[in-house]
Amino acid sequence: MPADEDSLAHRRHVCSRVIPHWQYSLTNRLDLETIFGRKAPLHVDLGCGDGSFLCALAQRLADKNFLGIERLAGRVRSSARKAGSLDNMRLLQMESSYAVRYLLPPESVETIYLLFPDPWPKRRHHRRRIVTPDFLNSVHTALRTNGVIYIATDQLDYFQKIKVTAESTLGFTIDDADVHLPQSKFGLAFRQKGAPIHWLALRKVSPVR
Ligand SMILES: C[S@@+](CC[C@H](N)C(=O)[O-])C[C@H]1O[C@@H](n2cnc3c(N)ncnc32)[C@H](O)[C@@H]1O
Repeated sequence: MPADEDSLAHRRHVCSRVIPHWQYSLTNRLDLETIFGRKAPLHVDLGCGDGSFLCALAQRLADKNFLGIERLAGRVRSSARKAGSLDNMRLLQMESSYAVRYLLPPESVETIYLLFPDPWPKRRHHRRRIVTPDFLNSVHTALRTNGVIYIATDQLDYFQKIKVTAESTLGFTIDDADVHLPQSKFGLAFRQKGAPIHWLALRKVSPVR
């Protein structure tokens, strides 16, 4: 633990990284300029887990705003602790599909990351998987033209289904997924196990329908 991690200043930083309930409502779009205190291109990590990926990227790209969305309170807290004094990073405890569909303003996002979404490998659980035609339509609305969603999974059958869904969703092209991104916690674990990682990059090519 860094020496100053218990300091009052650090604890204040941690609290201010999590978007407080009074700063958003479930029925209005997020006021991104108020939340970040500035206008900058927005990157969103859906299911950000422990926040290690987002922190590494926020550190690398100081001129962008980074929003981590995660449904588990404990993981939001650990992401916030990692974010510490990174002023360009915020966290929202929320269900990702809901946030993309109802809270992100249309055409507000430059890049979305969906890294190792819960795979729900049993057939009877497949309907719980996050990537559906409705989800991709909401992603399309939230992205700017030319914006990209990067999706990574170690599950080949999920990857193939995502690809088929993407191919039948209007307004995206499948891009070269040759990505040079920091490792997420799960990405690192899969890599260490030697598991193949499947990547998909979908670029929005037409404006909001
Ligand atoms: C397999 S982990 C991957 C975490 C991180 N992206 C990584 O690569 O290390 C999936 C994460 O997504 C979160 N999650 C799953 N479904 C979610 C949903 N519908 N909305 C928000 N978070 C979700 C889980 O709580 C978990 O932290």
